[in-house]
Amino acid sequence: MTTAQGIEALSHEHRHFPPPPDFAAKANAQPGIYEEAEADYQAFWASWARKLEWMKPFTKTLEWNEPFAKWFSDGELNACVNALDRHVRGGKGSRIAYYYEGEPGDRWTITYQQLLDDVCRFANGLRKLGVKKGDRVAIYMPMIPELPVAMLACARIGAAHSVIFGGFSPDSIVDRVNDSQCVALITADQGWRRGKKIALKANCDEAMKETPSIKHCIVAKRVGDPVEMKEGRDVWWHDAIGGQSAQCEPERMNAEDLLFLLYTSGTTAKPKGIKHTTGGYLTGVTSTHKLVFDLKDDDVYWCAADIGWVTGHSYIVYGPLCNGATSVIYEGTPDFPDKDRLWEIVERYKVNILYTAPTAIRTFMKWGVEYPQKHDLSSLRLLGSVGEPINPEAWMWYRDHIGGGKCPVVDTWWQTETGGIMISPLPGLTTTLPGSATHPLPGIGVDIVNDKNESVPLGGGGYIVLTRPWPSMLRGIWGDDERYKETYWSKFPHKYLAGDGCRRDHEGNYWFMGRIDDVMNVSGHRISTTEIESALVEHPRVAEAAVVGKVDDVTGQAIVAFVSLRGSDAGSHDLGDELRKHVGEKLGKFTTPKYLTFTQELPKTRSGKIMRRLLRDIAEGRMLGDTTTLADSSVVAELQERAKTEVHTEE
Ligand code: WT7
Repeated sequence: MTTAQGIEALSHEHRHFPPPPDFAAKANAQPGIYEEAEADYQAFWASWARKLEWMKPFTKTLEWNEPFAKWFSDGELNACVNALDRHVRGGKGSRIAYYYEGEPGDRWTITYQQLLDDVCRFANGLRKLGVKKGDRVAIYMPMIPELPVAMLACARIGAAHSVIFGGFSPDSIVDRVNDSQCVALITADQGWRRGKKIALKANCDEAMKETPSIKHCIVAKRVGDPVEMKEGRDVWWHDAIGGQSAQCEPERMNAEDLLFLLYTSGTTAKPKGIKHTTGGYLTGVTSTHKLVFDLKDDDVYWCAADIGWVTGHSYIVYGPLCNGATSVIYEGTPDFPDKDRLWEIVERYKVNILYTAPTAIRTFMKWGVEYPQKHDLSSLRLLGSVGEPINPEAWMWYRDHIGGGKCPVVDTWWQTETGGIMISPLPGLTTTLPGSATHPLPGIGVDIVNDKNESVPLGGGGYIVLTRPWPSMLRGIWGDDERYKETYWSKFPHKYLAGDGCRRDHEGNYWFMGRIDDVMNVSGHRISTTEIESALVEHPRVAEAAVVGKVDDVTGQAIVAFVSLRGSDAGSHDLGDELRKHVGEKLGKFTTPKYLTFTQELPKTRSGKIMRRLLRDIAEGRMLGDTTTLADSSVVAELQERAKTEVHTEE
């Protein structure tokens, strides 16, 4: 959606839900917190940072050498110690860190003590393989307990992890591993997905033909089918930890040492390695997890995201563990073996706090209320949403049918780059409105500006910008400071450009309207149009391709590809399928275009720029906007005809 269209689509939402009084009375965030943070935001963050365990306390709070921030930079700490050792030492070793539920139905509980022991053994195993402080380690795993263990083990020994979502293809692994020169790759034999086996180690084998920096590949056994193991390079997880002690000295890390890289799609074909460091990141995720989710000592908390994305890093691993929470991890899909799997899990573990994505909620709506109704969901007391704008209908359905009309719903806006939640209700303080992320969290500076960099008054919309540094902010892009400056800090001086369009109503509530750049959001996954275009043009029969997002009832946006072929090739249904499959193989199945239309010519300006705006109009079946800059107007007429008979397959 373009900002202009979004702004015109003014929301007419008048329903207001004040916090339930009993919830408010006991809430972690109490009145005064916004004022306290606003009075001195650095002191506010420093007080949260002091709740962490420091090996050497910090004396400096913020050094801002725009656009490069350092937080707590003379302090030392270890992320793993904060996530685990601290709780075990404090007598909470027998507390459950994770209820684990595998897709096939295997279940077990993992206490903080067990998690610490497992992490120490694996950390020792990594050290023995030569992994050391300052290295990068790639992790490509299914949602099994070994995944957080691997991340925390890296943190313990001072190696930065770079988790690559298990849905990515071998090529995507190659790009990410080579960009940051990872020395090891941690994976599993296979993973389970809707009863099918996903070939993780085989994908790694394919990738490792082109990743010379990888010295070792460590393989956890999840499914059990035989996989190839290359002598000298590949090591089974159980062998790596075999004979290792459950004691492992943690590295003293500077607050500004790299904790992890997480690659995210931008507007070019090359993904960006977003850098997050130790002290500020932990401060951001620990505080927001406690405040936004109102976490209490006896809560069971479940973030149903994948650890392969930032949501999982911040709100399955680091935030909850640093807060000593008991969480649920579920390996598989919500419809396996049946469409009530999530509700069965909520009932089984008496989940109190549930955090999921609008695309999932819309899918549950489509499946029908009979599935949640089969289960006792009365344990729930708070619901969260993340990943894309949530439409008021989905918000209300979530509140009514999952939350029984009694749970506050928090719509949380943030990004891989922000590390933690930035705009969200605080459930004991904020009056919520279906579809709005309400307003910025304490200490966060936000504005909405127009093209001239003027603040837009309430009632209007524009670009959302962040106006002051925050502890969990990205520290840049791996190996590319220029791109960091250019992408986030060049459009408006002294303001961080988030890349989203947003409107503020007269009460100051924020209504997000989607990306303003060439990035799509499909089922909460950020996908670059350019990446898909490059994948398409790699196919020998493709001359040119343009990709846009189209509104989709379930996934938020769906990928639409317009392809022109070489020579006089007119394409065919089979070729359409082949190209869609080609993209999936190249980038990962979740990037497969839903629609594909062949065209003789793409609509271009006289200077040769593809007019995506027109393509978006065509994809949406809308009246065309201004076509005066178009070089050849017959192209569009033909495309509109073709788009009606486009090649597409519903999955
Ligand atoms: C983009 C960031 C945040 C973790 C998961 C995605 C969109 C995210 C919301 C929300 C409206 C949202 C934005 C943002 N987004 N949450 N609550 N309301 N839009 O992380 O892959 O870095 O994507 O997701 O467009 O820029 P990500």
